[in-house]
Amino acid sequence: MPEKSTTGVGAKSDLVFFVNGKKVVDPDVDPEMTLLTYLRRKLRLTGAKLGCGEGGCGACTVMVSRYNPTQRKVLHLAVNACLAPICSLHGAAVTTVEGIGSTRTRLNPVQERIAKAHGSQCGFCTPGIVMSMYTLLRNHPTPDMEQLETTLQGNLCRCTGYRPILEGYKTFTKESHGCCGGMASNGCCRDYQCEQAANGNTGNEWDENVSKELFQVSEFLPLDPTQEPIFPPELMKGEGSDERTLKFVGERVTWIKPATFKEVLELKTKIPRAKLVVGNSEIGVEVKFKNCDYPFIIAPGHLPEINFHRYTEHGITFGAGCTITYLNDTLAEAIDTLPEHQTRLFAAIVEMLRWFAGRQIRNVGCIGGNILTASPISDLNPIFLSAGCTMTVMSHQGGSRVVKMDHTFFPGYRETALTPEEVMMSLDVPFTKENEYFLAYKQARRRDDDIAIVNAAFRVQFEEGTNVIKDVALSFGGMAPTTVMARNTANSLIGLKWDNDLLPEACSCLEDDLPLSPSVPGGMVEFRRTLTTSFFFKFFLSVQQRLNLKVGGLSGSVVPFDDVPPSYRSAYSLYHREPSQGTQMYQEVPKGQRRDDAVGRPIMHLSALKQATGEAVYTDDMPHIQGELYLGLVLSKKAHAKIVSIDPSEALKMPGVETFVSAEDVPGSNITGPVVKDEEAFATEKVTCVGQIVGAVLADTQAHAQRAAKAVVVQYEDLGPKIITIEDAILHQSFYQPVNKIEKGNLVEAFEKSDQILEGELRIGGQEHFYLETCAAIVVPHGEDGEMEIFCSTQNPTTMQMLAAKVLGIPANRVVCRVKRMGGAFGGKETRPFAITSVCAVAAHKVQRPVRIMLDRDEDMVITGRRHPFLGRYKVGFMSDGRVLALDISLYSNAGNSLDLSHGVMCQALLRSDSAYTIPNVRAVGYVCKTNTASNTAFRGFGAPQAVFFAESWIADVAIKCGISQHKVREINMCKEGDVTHYNMTLEGCQLQRCWEECLKQSDFLTRRRQVDGFNGENRWKKRGLAAIPTKYGIAFIGSFNQAGALVHVYTDGSVLVTHGGTEMGQGLHTKMVQVAGRVLKIPTSRIHISETSTNTVPNTSSTAASLSSDLYGMAVKIACETILQRLEPYMGKGSWDDWVRAAYFDRVGLSATGFYRTPGIEYDIQKNEGRPFSYFCYGTAVSEVEIDCLTGDHTVLRTDIVMDVGNSLNPAVDIGQIEGAFLQGYGLYTMEEQVYSPDGVLYSRGPGMYKIPGFADIPIHFNVSLLRGAPNDKAIFSSKGVGEPPILLASSVFFAIKDAIYSARADAGYKGIFRLDSPATAERIRMACKDQFTAQFPAAEPGSFTPWAIKL
Ligand SMILES: Cc1cc2nc3c(=O)[nH]c(=O)nc-3n(C[C@H](O)[C@H](O)[C@H](O)COP(=O)(O)OP(=O)(O)OC[C@H]3O[C@@H](n4cnc5c(N)ncnc54)[C@H](O)[C@@H]3O)c2cc1C
Ligand code: FES
Ligand code: FES
Repeated sequence: MPEKSTTGVGAKSDLVFFVNGKKVVDPDVDPEMTLLTYLRRKLRLTGAKLGCGEGGCGACTVMVSRYNPTQRKVLHLAVNACLAPICSLHGAAVTTVEGIGSTRTRLNPVQERIAKAHGSQCGFCTPGIVMSMYTLLRNHPTPDMEQLETTLQGNLCRCTGYRPILEGYKTFTKESHGCCGGMASNGCCRDYQCEQAANGNTGNEWDENVSKELFQVSEFLPLDPTQEPIFPPELMKGEGSDERTLKFVGERVTWIKPATFKEVLELKTKIPRAKLVVGNSEIGVEVKFKNCDYPFIIAPGHLPEINFHRYTEHGITFGAGCTITYLNDTLAEAIDTLPEHQTRLFAAIVEMLRWFAGRQIRNVGCIGGNILTASPISDLNPIFLSAGCTMTVMSHQGGSRVVKMDHTFFPGYRETALTPEEVMMSLDVPFTKENEYFLAYKQARRRDDDIAIVNAAFRVQFEEGTNVIKDVALSFGGMAPTTVMARNTANSLIGLKWDNDLLPEACSCLEDDLPLSPSVPGGMVEFRRTLTTSFFFKFFLSVQQRLNLKVGGLSGSVVPFDDVPPSYRSAYSLYHREPSQGTQMYQEVPKGQRRDDAVGRPIMHLSALKQATGEAVYTDDMPHIQGELYLGLVLSKKAHAKIVSIDPSEALKMPGVETFVSAEDVPGSNITGPVVKDEEAFATEKVTCVGQIVGAVLADTQAHAQRAAKAVVVQYEDLGPKIITIEDAILHQSFYQPVNKIEKGNLVEAFEKSDQILEGELRIGGQEHFYLETCAAIVVPHGEDGEMEIFCSTQNPTTMQMLAAKVLGIPANRVVCRVKRMGGAFGGKETRPFAITSVCAVAAHKVQRPVRIMLDRDEDMVITGRRHPFLGRYKVGFMSDGRVLALDISLYSNAGNSLDLSHGVMCQALLRSDSAYTIPNVRAVGYVCKTNTASNTAFRGFGAPQAVFFAESWIADVAIKCGISQHKVREINMCKEGDVTHYNMTLEGCQLQRCWEECLKQSDFLTRRRQVDGFNGENRWKKRGLAAIPTKYGIAFIGSFNQAGALVHVYTDGSVLVTHGGTEMGQGLHTKMVQVAGRVLKIPTSRIHISETSTNTVPNTSSTAASLSSDLYGMAVKIACETILQRLEPYMGKGSWDDWVRAAYFDRVGLSATGFYRTPGIEYDIQKNEGRPFSYFCYGTAVSEVEIDCLTGDHTVLRTDIVMDVGNSLNPAVDIGQIEGAFLQGYGLYTMEEQVYSPDGVLYSRGPGMYKIPGFADIPIHFNVSLLRGAPNDKAIFSSKGVGEPPILLASSVFFAIKDAIYSARADAGYKGIFRLDSPATAERIRMACKDQFTAQFPAAEPGSFTPWAIKL
């Protein structure tokens, strides 16, 4: 209960703030509510989205404006509404995406440009990106490219690959006059492209049929800052001018906004456990995800006593409440104005802050919050400790005191030297001295917006005019439960000279100073330890270099110091990234094509403008229905256990709770499953994975439902064995049957004939879909005849319908499933959402009221499964000239606790084990492992990315074994026209060679190969790598799913409504279908509308998946439209479309028609290896170049060129968007995204904080995509090809470029020959593969001698 009586503060206050210019006065606000919930639920402004709830995705971004009386101006900040407590908005003006423009009134240029530049696919991230950009423009109407890229650091998009967003927004920047803004180091990219073309290097020569314009800048609305909404004059008095203390009291939490600092201190004395909250970026996460309760909050952020900076004799003093942005800007200004030597510490802080969270967090998080959270991976604390900063703290009774930030400041995990009553007032950040050097380092999973794995800050001071160490401090984060100082190392270095003898001494001391147990939380033990000495090495060289420069300056007055070899300078050069740029080339429509025939033209996604304005409605944006309840899930906490009891009694007593729902309430069958019925809707006797649904609580709000669900007590009794990993499954022979096999040729003979044989084992990890919109459903019972309506974010409405009917025990004709759009899906919404729609249906049936659920990100990640992790064991026979004769491969996939689509995924993996090569003798065997983890499922590529990874790995190894270049060996073995695959399909119309040759030419591969080798010869600690990867991707569903239906209505006003069985998840399917209908009916696309997908209009649909939907539904729509056109033919002699339609209507001609299509000739029997599994193939090639930092494992993609065969593109903008988006998703799979599981099968990586998908800064710096010209496909609609999945495989070019770079690093250290590199190539894997003296210092502990913190599935 809130401590109302102890506060001494008077009655409850009204919360007053403005939203989009309208005043909101709330006398009864709940302090636990976030701004996002308030906007979405109370104000019905659903433009801002919930993507994660932890500040990690930016989908919820809004602009918060406040008047600053000191600066006498209004400050506009982009803020994460999901972390902003609603009470913190008192006195502020909030602007949401709805407040800046709409399709109904006037679009804001920020909304228009992202849409027209094709930067919105599913659109779920779009409002957040729009608001980040809008805020930047409010502060800087003409930003530069660096500001643009920094501003978007805190926003994620899973669909677009970011390039089109940057392209659209580049038009606002200073540099926008050229396409790259003239920012490329080698001149404007267009000049470069033209030059390349002139040299005949593009492969896609710039003839008049090739276009590189996907949008017209001239069509954009101009930005006119004077048109923007004004700040409410009523708020001009500003923050801090409240004369009275405000108090907001909720159900469980009281929020006090004190009028004076004296009050803060008094309150802290009265209630020491009261929490101070400023940015809430720590506390918000603790409350939401770590079950922390803080019943009493003091919000002092507005008070001037902690909001200031002041120059002193020794440095700059900052108020504890200053935000990270403020700290950064103030220090940056000081760096610009003060002598260099004074600001070395400031420079280290500013450099560190480039990688500190995203802009939205930096705008609210404060210095005091960062220090006093006492996180062991705080980025600032190592710096402040090494700098020996002092802080002033104050308490009501003790007054003020100065505390030094030294090794005693953090006595234990999340503890500080402050007493509970004390409040931090300020921090002194000192100047550095002339003979003092300061640098800081950080390595994270992702460079931008990520917390550190290890960070470090080093300071050294020399005796005047010498290289003798007078004082040194070394602090580390991520190496202990607190930030630590390596004091013994420091002590042993003092008095030594900064020369080459120092390094081994320092490294050896650091090893002793910073021990880590092999079971330490966070894992990555050898990597973390290696980073400590690697960072020090960077510092060592950096300082050595500076000392030498200084010696030069001192004209030999001191002895010359050890020099830094030129090739070693690569160790410490600062990371700098040029603005991203690229070209996209495609074939224009033939001359003479009707102007209003949109097929082949780059038209914008039909919903893009609505997505950019927040008007597009996703499932959870639908208005609340009278009587609606919210479902909170009770999830298993055990991987394999008997359920002893379930006790909901405490939950049922909690506020707002309606009832508890479990297996006992299922009116139909509790046994369910999308393919085979091997699952339970609610677990009954036992659970077989963590995250399985055991029960659910219905309550009036999400908060009440979720809180009550946590209060349900489930007793378990562990069962054995607990099978978590693939190795566990192999040990226990836990496989789903049958074990499928594809066999061709004679392996025994082929291996005998082979000159060499290569055997190996590799692993590729799983991948979380991370669609920005988590799974969501609303189920509405209609009362009559058991009718039930399901609104759901799913790719597969029919499966949701059928399984809901089954669990309810009613025929499918009583259940309608409706899908308007999804905020991304990628295969993750094909089957697994049934788990939530089924339990919602049971709950709705029980109470006969509408039930809503939208999973929190952590729930979604735990429940809904992901891409299968694979283990591959292979044996390859080949000739010394590189020809591969035989492949014997066993694939093992971790399928989880139910079969779901895992057999299909494995079947596809077996079919794709040849990648893009013709191998005469093959045996591919697939074991689908049954484990105690959440059931894994479809994901873009459906087994292909894993299979291709193995193939491209062994073929690269074959090349190295043969001493031939990798691209030559790929060429020798590459598939060509007429070749027969290992599944006995003859390749017809094979475009692979063309893609390969054009891409090699376009990328200038051979020249760049020489340049890369040259670079590597000159640099020891940074290495570059280059790889070219071809791809061949068969398109088809398995068996009977290759069918599709459509329904087309023509209304008497001439407008057309198209419905088909496919769903819109951002991939532009509806846009393409409208283009198809427009061409057939010969009317403009503006006359055609698609409103939704529903099972009562087009029944028995296949899932929207397998890159096939345009082919299937395109044909179905075409057939339906052709039927209508035939019926209209008698009326077409004169008049217009409208006249024909009216005439036909009055003649009683049916103006509605269905279309049905089934792909001919697809039938494949895997047992007999007979038939045709695919309709046709998509081909492509990518060339990628990377640079790695051998000391940290960091990497950058310098350039990627793609040539992709998509037949005759239906819509080049959509297709290029799919290629770039898939490429970046594949890039995440192969380099970054890592599932972290405990040995007990508990998923640790449950949100964007720990699970990293690529961000804006991860895209290739140069990204060039060309669609292959003149390659029509006679097997699909209007000669097009499917495109959704194939390009994901091309991202493996980055992985193999990284591996290429590592080879060079290893060679320099004396390690020759092939080596194993599993996927993803994370910083940890890259660093540890670059073996050197630092990695040798930290050998791994003997496996089996300890329990690791995390395991690989
Ligand atoms: C998505 C995300 C990314 C992040 N990335 C990074 C990162 O890259 N690097 C990094 O270091 N951190 C990161 N953080 C952590 C966090 O943002 C910072 O630590 C931030 O500075 C905390 O400040 P705050 O004002 O939001 O703290 P709050 O949550 O408001 O408070 C945090 C703690 O500090 C205490 N406190 C605050 N001010 C005072 C005071 N004056 N006196 C006494 N106690 C006080 C509070 O009582 C509370 O215990 C990230 C957080 C999120 C959510
Ligand atoms: S929902 Fe707020 S940052 Fe993700
Ligand atoms: S468009 Fe960005 S997440 Fe879908």
